[in-house]
Amino acid sequence: MIASATPANIESAAERLLAGELVVMPTETVYGLAGDATNATAVARIFEAKGRPHFNPLIAHVLTLADAEAHGVLPAKARELAEQFWPGPLTLVVERRAHSPVAELACAGLSTIALRVPAHPVARALLEAVGRPLAAPSANRSGSLSPTRAEHAAEDLAASVSFVLDGGPCRLGLESTIVAIDPQSHATLLRAGAISREEIEALIGPLAAAQAGAISAPGMLTSHYAPRAALRLNAHAAEAGEVLLGFGASSPEMLRATLNLSPSGDLVEAAAHLYAFLRDLDAANPGVIAVAPIPNYGLGEAINDRLARAAAPRS
Ligand code: TXA
Ligand code: MG
Repeated sequence: MIASATPANIESAAERLLAGELVVMPTETVYGLAGDATNATAVARIFEAKGRPHFNPLIAHVLTLADAEAHGVLPAKARELAEQFWPGPLTLVVERRAHSPVAELACAGLSTIALRVPAHPVARALLEAVGRPLAAPSANRSGSLSPTRAEHAAEDLAASVSFVLDGGPCRLGLESTIVAIDPQSHATLLRAGAISREEIEALIGPLAAAQAGAISAPGMLTSHYAPRAALRLNAHAAEAGEVLLGFGASSPEMLRATLNLSPSGDLVEAAAHLYAFLRDLDAANPGVIAVAPIPNYGLGEAINDRLARAAAPRS
């Protein structure tokens, strides 16, 4: 059931969470499939509902920086980033505190924990009402598109989740940026996301790239974020049997695109539209979705990362 985010429905969602049930909640990035992070059974239900491999750890969402520090040890650079970008679309992976009540399963047995302080008022009201950290991956079945509207999550998870809090379309439409900070304050970009690399590097200096084959980064399964149709990237026009997902207005073909992520060439607008537009195009069952070239700076890095995964060969 989709419930509007009234105080009474937020209260009802909190009661369900405290009883170990799952609830879909809006965040400023994408909708999250939330469960009580301190309840291992609830966390297991999340993996089951997503059909997600158990080794993929979850983000613990908390209300404040002080709450985050109860679960993880934030080195200086992590604290600087937190002060600048929280509440907001940044996830920090840091050493987990031994006495954190967050279930081991949520961290997939790692010695680190992923922490985020969301900005969406409904997510915050829910965290306040629950009074516990919420584990929340994107509210989609593993491997499919992340939901940016309540109806998307409700469709995808109809079989496993009975309560979807509707907070309207997600403002950003792209998952949080994930940065790991080790105890020596060495910073690595694990997932490009709604905050650009440039914004982060302006504050703490260069970010290392995640090593292939090394742990743990996000959405590292090759085929991920995939619509049903095949994708053809860096396309300048649609060929027979294709629909075109355009960007910008540099050619007549872009202006005739089936959908255009941002006719004005704005990467923030493009990020906010990405998943919803892929979903809309996919719904018409095209053979192939051709996608215009997206510049690879700012949020374009995250958009291109998602597109490359969506275009990867499927198993
Ligand atoms: O914007 C977001 O981050 C959304 C909203 C709901 O908050 N959540 C989200 O969660 O995207 P999820 O589970 O779809 O992606 C989280 C990623 C996972 O792919 C996981 O690999 C990575 O975070 N992650 C979590 N804990 C980690 C850890 N300890 N070390 C490395 N990566 C970790
Ligand atoms: Mg996800």
